[in-house]
Amino acid sequence: MQRPDVVIIGAGAAGLFCAARAGQRGLRVLLIDHFARVAEKVRISGGGRANFTNRALDPAAPQRHFISHNPHFCRSALARFTPQDFMALLTRHGIAFHEKHKGQLFCDRSAQDLIDLLLAECAAAPAFGGQVERWQPCAVDRVEFQAKSGSGACPSSASSYVIHSDRSVIETPALVVATGGLSVPKIGASDFGLRLARQFDLKCVDTRPGLVGLTFDGDGWAAFAALAGLALPVEIATGTGRQRMRFHEDLLFTHRGLSGPAVLQISSYWQPGTPIEIDLAPGLDLAAELRAAKSRSRRGIARELAAWLPARLAEAWVLRDAAWQRPVNEAADKALAQLAASLQRWSITPSGTEGYRKAEVTVGGVDTRELSSQTLEARRQPGLYFIGEVVDVTGWLGGYNFQWAWASAAACADAL
Ligand code: FDA
Repeated sequence: MQRPDVVIIGAGAAGLFCAARAGQRGLRVLLIDHFARVAEKVRISGGGRANFTNRALDPAAPQRHFISHNPHFCRSALARFTPQDFMALLTRHGIAFHEKHKGQLFCDRSAQDLIDLLLAECAAAPAFGGQVERWQPCAVDRVEFQAKSGSGACPSSASSYVIHSDRSVIETPALVVATGGLSVPKIGASDFGLRLARQFDLKCVDTRPGLVGLTFDGDGWAAFAALAGLALPVEIATGTGRQRMRFHEDLLFTHRGLSGPAVLQISSYWQPGTPIEIDLAPGLDLAAELRAAKSRSRRGIARELAAWLPARLAEAWVLRDAAWQRPVNEAADKALAQLAASLQRWSITPSGTEGYRKAEVTVGGVDTRELSSQTLEARRQPGLYFIGEVVDVTGWLGGYNFQWAWASAAACADAL
């Protein structure tokens, strides 16, 4: 297939879904991916069970679950292809799934079921008069745009993209870029999409790792490193004023810093050099509890704290101040108040993140102002489309990134 109706670069979540949908609209689709295995990120997602969407998604209020310079950009695509639409697709394929917390939907068995579904949808294209051919692994060397003279009022129907790949040279009127974000390069992530956008003078929003662990260096962290593996529910926040973001999730101590859902969520909003604030005993008035304990108990403060916090954390925490290493009834009121504040308003400044090697997503990407929110086509470059994570639309943890991949792919496929 050397003159397909559409070439899609990137056979991940968005690329496969777009290929299947375009193929089922009767188009001849060529899907190209440079990595040897198909949809590897889907395979490792959600701990191997793919958190493929979220029931709580509200397309009318996308800023609640998505980060973008224009938080309203994703509204149109998300409203037209909903979590319910994707759930119906799974049901049609007989794939069982279940809800975890906060509307997160996972495959019962394995993320491989989801990959098989996407491949089966591609294979169904001939029944609709279309075709999906996949070249994988296949590297793209360069892309040229040939603007045909006399293309008139509809340049996209006459102009073409010439794709030089290591298998052959392909010419197509429509090129869809679905090369994803920068995270986890060892399974195929690359900056191809951003480079291609810049080649066509399309602006990109600066990128940074998102949904990623935060790291701390220096002696300050040594005391906490011993807590690696410990998890507890917390409230976590960063930013000030209207930019302040807050999450109520589980925190995990690691050897190098903090992780777990709470930290992954806040990391997408965290700005280098600024602190994060953590309440290690959310929903509790710890100062009042400690005052009450002082009047009724002679036990050590750490043992008292263990009524509300993991014992390991309580023991490590009191080592931070000599005034906290004594029986609670002998502690000064001021020391107990300071202890409560230190636990409920723990303010620390990360030195960095675990980086793209460990991040689940990339924040930033192709600037949404360059794209149509209806079709994902570049406004100034007819026939060129960007879908999925390569676009400056980043979802929260919880299936939102896959839902954006499905929805942006559907919006694009329906416009091809
Ligand atoms: P995706 O990354 O899926 O696909 C991009 C494809 O492009 C890849 O196949 C890659 O090989 C290919 N490619 C890149 N450069 C290329 C080039 N130069 N030439 C040719 N091909 C190229 N999200 C969620 O909603 N629920 C979840 O449970 C998880 N879990 C999760 C776990 C982990 C460990 C990670 C790293 C990520 C997640 N995510 C997630 C995020 C989710 O995987 C991600 O947002 C989507 O896969 C994005 O879909 P795309 O199709 O845009 O990119």
